[in-house]
Amino acid sequence: MNYLVGNWKSNKTIPEAKEWLKKITNYQLPSTNLEIVIAAPFTVLSFLKTNSSFRLAAQNISPFPSGPYTGEISGEMIKGLVDYVVVGHSERRRHFGETNEMVAKKTKQALQFQITPIVCLDEPYLESQIKAINHQLIFAYEPLAAIGSGKPDTPQNANLVAERIKKMTEGAFVLYGGSVDAKNAKNFMVEKNIDGLLVGQASLNANEFAKIIQAV
Ligand code: PGA
Repeated sequence: MNYLVGNWKSNKTIPEAKEWLKKITNYQLPSTNLEIVIAAPFTVLSFLKTNSSFRLAAQNISPFPSGPYTGEISGEMIKGLVDYVVVGHSERRRHFGETNEMVAKKTKQALQFQITPIVCLDEPYLESQIKAINHQLIFAYEPLAAIGSGKPDTPQNANLVAERIKKMTEGAFVLYGGSVDAKNAKNFMVEKNIDGLLVGQASLNANEFAKIIQAV
């Protein structure tokens, strides 16, 4: 199975999500062997669930079960709403102080509620994060310098890192993320160890995202 995950990050109101859906329905999208996932903000997940057939991901999950944790969304609360959850994104590590341990707890919560975690990794914590988790999941290799910079990693290097991750995890799925667009998407997907893409900025524009889908 190949994956294409659009990470909307902290973007899009419900009217904007509606507009995005309207635009993307103009395109013929492939239905086999490509799991297209939208990682949307919590505030638009229900809208997307009701109005589209895309698979959905949350962008965060509480490291705790339901209970007295003000502001947190637990796995129990999003079970059935999403199939996936992105955890450990470098933006969450940088701006919200997430650690390997917290990411491991979030991963555990997701698995407990049958939500597949997509765990983001970068070189400095590749091994330590994988060790802290100890599960075979979906990982996304996202080099910090490539995120939102317009300067993606080379497909060859991304492939080498993906190979390392696979060796450490006995064959997890590995996605690449960082400045993926319609022009370079295919170059990553032809690499042997890359099973999919995590797309930020380019997923916000429905036309560009549709072109990425068609390219891969
Ligand atoms: P980008 O973001 O595609 O905008 O570089 C990727 C990500 O952060 O997941």
